[in-house]
Amino acid sequence: MRILVTGRNGQVGTALAASLHGLGEVIALDRAQLDLANADAIRTAMRELQPAMVINAAAYTAVDAAESDEATAFRINADAPRVLAEEAERLGAAIIHYSTDYVFDGSKDGAWLEDDAPAPLSAYGRSKLAGEQAIADVGGTHLILRTSWVYGLHGKNFLLTMLRLAETRDELAIVDDQVGAPTWSGTIAGATAAIIRSAGEPAQLAPLSGIYHLCAGGHTSWFGFAQAIFADPSVPNKPLLRPITTAEYPTPARRPKNSVMNTDKFRRAFGDLPDWNEALADCLRQRAAH
Ligand SMILES: NC(=O)c1ccc[n+]([C@@H]2O[C@H](COP(=O)([O-])OP(=O)(O)OC[C@H]3O[C@@H](n4cnc5c(N)ncnc54)[C@H](OP(=O)(O)O)[C@@H]3O)[C@@H](O)[C@H]2O)c1
Repeated sequence: MRILVTGRNGQVGTALAASLHGLGEVIALDRAQLDLANADAIRTAMRELQPAMVINAAAYTAVDAAESDEATAFRINADAPRVLAEEAERLGAAIIHYSTDYVFDGSKDGAWLEDDAPAPLSAYGRSKLAGEQAIADVGGTHLILRTSWVYGLHGKNFLLTMLRLAETRDELAIVDDQVGAPTWSGTIAGATAAIIRSAGEPAQLAPLSGIYHLCAGGHTSWFGFAQAIFADPSVPNKPLLRPITTAEYPTPARRPKNSVMNTDKFRRAFGDLPDWNEALADCLRQRAAH
């Protein structure tokens, strides 16, 4: 089975390289090889490569920058997924696409379900929601995997920011009134590989088409996430952590207060997911081993 992966240098793209090993002929492209801003380039690549499965790990993920560049966010997060989905449908291929907790406004008491009404607070969230809708509109075989608070040992993320800041600062002020599930890129890639392994071939995924919440179990705040990072024995610097409110840390984009997503649908269809603190420990073990 030929599997095309976009965004190979991203957090999830990098993790997929390891997880997809042995599952087929994986062709992973970076931005220089396939620029999702160029719809013609997407069509050409899809028609030349004729994959049986497309995993779209590329996205415009600069949440704050998107506030002043919504057009580019839409081009990458909505227009490009539509073209990928159209081309996949033409080929009878399946598309696996990642989306985000930021499609929700965070106002719910309790965990968000897949069919809860989205109401994004940010340009990034609007562009990702438009991408979900575009793929569903095309109507081919598609899995939209909404994840949250992605971190790993590669790229730009909260874990690496904390570790870097702790090298030079004794005290860190961290937002404590947004809750969600920190999700390791390794968990996302492993779960994606499990989907492909269980399906065997793309046609088997057709009846499963739809949206799934794919994030770690449990939840915490950014402050709680930071506490867990610095509590790990492998992390040498232990700065003093001070909880602050979102209002004390203003950013261009508004973020949901409650990002916690219910993952029962994913677990029923594709298997278990680790709790966020277990996955964090695994990730830090991997870091210590290198
Ligand atoms: N990060 C999070 O906290 C988070 C939370 C919820 C959902 N998600 C979703 O999860 C998925 C994976 O995110 P991630 O954290 O792995 O993102 P990431 O680390 O920012 O990686 C995104 C990748 O997309 C590539 N890209 C951006 N614009 C492109 C373009 N025009 N053409 C081709 N490639 C382009 C980037 O290329 P360059 O390396 O060249 O920049 C990068 O490799 C995305 O769908 C994202 O929306 C992420």
